[in-house]
Amino acid sequence: MVVERASQALADVLVASNRGPVSYSVAGETTQAGGAGGGSLSAKRGGGGLVSGLSAIATEDSGGDAVWVCAALGDGDREAVRRSGGKLDRADTGGQSVRMLDIPAGTFADAYNGIANSVLWFVHHMLYQTPLEPSFGAEFEQQWASYERYNAAFADALADEAAEGATVLVQDYHLTLVPALLRERRPDLRIGHFSHTPWAPPDYYRMLPDAVAEQVLRGVLGADRAAFLTRRWARGFADCCVAVLGAAVAEDESTGELEVTCDGRTTRLGVHGLGADAEFLRERAGRDDVDERIAILREQIGSDRDGRPRRALVRVDRTELSKNIVRGLHAYGRLLADRPEWRERVVHLALAYPSRQDLAVYRDYMSEVSRVAEEINSTYGTESWTPVVLFLKDDFARSLAAYRLADVALVNPIRDGMNLVAKEVPVVSDDGCALVLSREAGAYAELGEDSLVVNPYDIADTARALHEALTMEHGRRAERTKRLAAAATALPPTRWFLDQLHALRDA
Ligand code: G6P
Repeated sequence: MVVERASQALADVLVASNRGPVSYSVAGETTQAGGAGGGSLSAKRGGGGLVSGLSAIATEDSGGDAVWVCAALGDGDREAVRRSGGKLDRADTGGQSVRMLDIPAGTFADAYNGIANSVLWFVHHMLYQTPLEPSFGAEFEQQWASYERYNAAFADALADEAAEGATVLVQDYHLTLVPALLRERRPDLRIGHFSHTPWAPPDYYRMLPDAVAEQVLRGVLGADRAAFLTRRWARGFADCCVAVLGAAVAEDESTGELEVTCDGRTTRLGVHGLGADAEFLRERAGRDDVDERIAILREQIGSDRDGRPRRALVRVDRTELSKNIVRGLHAYGRLLADRPEWRERVVHLALAYPSRQDLAVYRDYMSEVSRVAEEINSTYGTESWTPVVLFLKDDFARSLAAYRLADVALVNPIRDGMNLVAKEVPVVSDDGCALVLSREAGAYAELGEDSLVVNPYDIADTARALHEALTMEHGRRAERTKRLAAAATALPPTRWFLDQLHALRDA
């Protein structure tokens, strides 16, 4: 199917992602049906490395007219689409051209909550409790059909917006089918796909129904370049292509890049390790609201019986199943049990912000985090010392404050595409911070050498690493932090984006 194009200004560079750079909420009342009524809309710009990286789309270096295609996530977004006709007001987007898609709410929920977050996310992060799940039946089939429609809506919009020969960068597991669908519609385009998650190894990946496992791989292989955060995830993808599709994999001797050939077409696999945005973080972390929060946190951390400030063990995460917050708490409990010398002398600041609360398993996980934190506090806490201080409300300034004052940062995911917290802490740390890092985080590839590396399932091993981190000599800690910060900022978000764009154009 080759699509007739609209006679509007067409874009030379396009980005597609589920979540866009801006989201809307409706002030005042919402209608009974959950609609937005006539209230005024307020726009909020998304934070984080992804938005800042993809925002390079609007810079001159990207070379041409650009558009970002994303989905309406909630009622506020849907209302903004209705009012604007789809292209958002540039005053809300920092001048960017953003086309937001009003995909029917039921289709969106199936695709986002049902497939992307409950199936593909679980597969790539290996989160299933396999005796009972996954179980692919009628509900899955219906949701999968929605995922196909949701991907097709993106492919249609991109086909409609792209100028002849334009470059399109499709993001993540929400949009795995888009590259192939778009190629059918517009064979003239250069198409890239980027996975921000890990990629599952074949034995785990093949839990998916065979036809779906194939469709996802063929969808991504519709791209000229499929890129990943680390070599390990690129390898996982290539291995799945071999196991499921019988594809051939070769390594380009000059660049070391892998190439997957299937049905006569070759897709190159790129590796682009997204780094921290040092300039932004340092500026933002130096503002007054962050200083204020440091003062409050220091008060909460307090001093030991000899009047020495207590050590701060910090973690900052979305309350995400893959982040392994519960085992992190158990490891801290184990430290206090095995090494009583740390009682009264350390406080664990656990910043665990809500995420994906539409899913029951995430709500349950959040309750379990609170329960275990309370258990530790009731077992070990004293009148003057609260061992764990848990924060469940998202506050970016507080996260930066915690980064700055941390003596030890705990980043222990079960599995993680990259983990930007591991990269951000050393960049803004005031006084050096020892990093306890899971070997299953993508960031391990770049930061492993200067971290205390743990097996995330091993509580005793994690407790041991926490002890080592807490006792690390100050000079050594500062030296390591410097090297970690250098590694963490090797590929800033803008460069990360432009590298992919240029590689795709040169392909
Ligand atoms: C993390 C992951 C990304 C993903 C994003 C979606 O940042 O690393 O791969 O796209 O979460 O989060 P959301 O809140 O939009 O579901």
